[in-house]
Amino acid sequence: EIPDPHVVVLFGASGDLSARKLLPGFYHLERAGLLPAAYRIVGTATDELDDESFAEHARQAVEEFGRTEVDAHVWDRFAARLSYVPTTAGPAALGAAVSKAREELGECRLLHYLAVPPAAFGSIIATLVELGLNGDDARVILEKPFGHDYDSAVALNRTLEQAFDDAQIFRIDHFLGKEAVQNILALRFANGLYEPLWNRTNIEFVQIDVPETLSIGDRAGFYEGTGAYRDMVVTHLLQLLSYIAMEPPVELSAKALRDEKTKVMQSMRMIDPAKVVRGQYEGYLDEDGVAPDSGTETFIAMEVQIDNWRWAGVPIHLRTGKCMAESRRTVVLDFHEPPMRMFPDEAQHQGANQLVFDLSEPGSITADFQAKVPGPTMRLGPARMIFRYEQSFETDNQLMAYERLIHDAMLGDATLFTGAEGIERLWAISADVLADPGPLHPYPKGSWGPEAAQHLVAPFSWRLPEAD
Ligand code: BG6
Repeated sequence: EIPDPHVVVLFGASGDLSARKLLPGFYHLERAGLLPAAYRIVGTATDELDDESFAEHARQAVEEFGRTEVDAHVWDRFAARLSYVPTTAGPAALGAAVSKAREELGECRLLHYLAVPPAAFGSIIATLVELGLNGDDARVILEKPFGHDYDSAVALNRTLEQAFDDAQIFRIDHFLGKEAVQNILALRFANGLYEPLWNRTNIEFVQIDVPETLSIGDRAGFYEGTGAYRDMVVTHLLQLLSYIAMEPPVELSAKALRDEKTKVMQSMRMIDPAKVVRGQYEGYLDEDGVAPDSGTETFIAMEVQIDNWRWAGVPIHLRTGKCMAESRRTVVLDFHEPPMRMFPDEAQHQGANQLVFDLSEPGSITADFQAKVPGPTMRLGPARMIFRYEQSFETDNQLMAYERLIHDAMLGDATLFTGAEGIERLWAISADVLADPGPLHPYPKGSWGPEAAQHLVAPFSWRLPEAD
């Protein structure tokens, strides 16, 4: 489906996210023929760029972060749609640029993309209202983290609701746009095999583990005030957990999914600071823009409990950090041992019965089980069944997470976006950890984080790193 003609107003157009994901994302949507024939992208940010230097900046971004070589024809088509207004030129200049673009296109929709830190949301929304850019034809996408804590998230939701109807608001969490994350819903609710096992009766523990080798790079300005908890946990990991833990929705609609996610978030227990391990990689304090005594965590591991009939008592562990040994995005469901051991010399090792989602793009699903080792005796050995997207499907048409979500927002489809109530609940269960974050453990770059994170999951252990 191709969206209506659009004027996209990209706030934070010269920032890190725009360079890494959004400009390459729009370019690839153009390349894939998924953008309307008529559209304009008006970039705005504090940098003093003009149309030409912004197009050049965009070209470099697509070359560096895009997933294909830049095609000259596609690029020319795309670049002709770009323009730029520095924020120093004032709101009227932005208003004039948007009006000009609208006149050129005729009847069209507006999509405001706020790729800026949450502290800037309020004033941008005020500007949109002042310029009259919040009419019925407008939609707004807001980047995460959505607020800084519960109060700021609630305040932000109220500000937004005064300017836009709920159907116009798209709170993005790009993890939910990943194919492999959407596939969690398919695996659970399109098959009879897994869902009956998907509960406390059969599951021993759950892990969501997202280590990253990446450092904070030149993102100190954003990261220092954010840290791993706000950057990854209260957003991506807990949203992901809601997909793993939710009850089956009655249908695959935005409302039905949101309702089920909200319900499971309501059942998440307040996070106990005693069950949280925070870390900071050695050398973080020397990064450009980091305060010499910074207490910002670059690693976090924690336990979450869901107090409902399906999950009561099942430990759920989350872990993520920068400068770790590997970059992975993994969800592990570990199943109970059978009630008795009947095989000779049967040593149950942890991880023998696990269902593992690798959420890279395109990703895989692995089922680990025990099988008979061929030979004259009944001996068991570890075995594995693996689903890989590229072996079952053509992956050429795959969209990257941001591309899928931008396209959905242009179509007005909020199914894969997050709701106000759920987000507020996630901040609410975070209140104790944010108020009393606990000690900060140093860890060497390239490691699996502080030792304390191993103790946190005892008597179990993290599935990663995997033995070769
Ligand atoms: C972003 C975080 O939202 O997600 C980054 O701000 C993180 O710190 C990134 O690196 C991870 O996303 P992905 O898609 O690369 O797993």
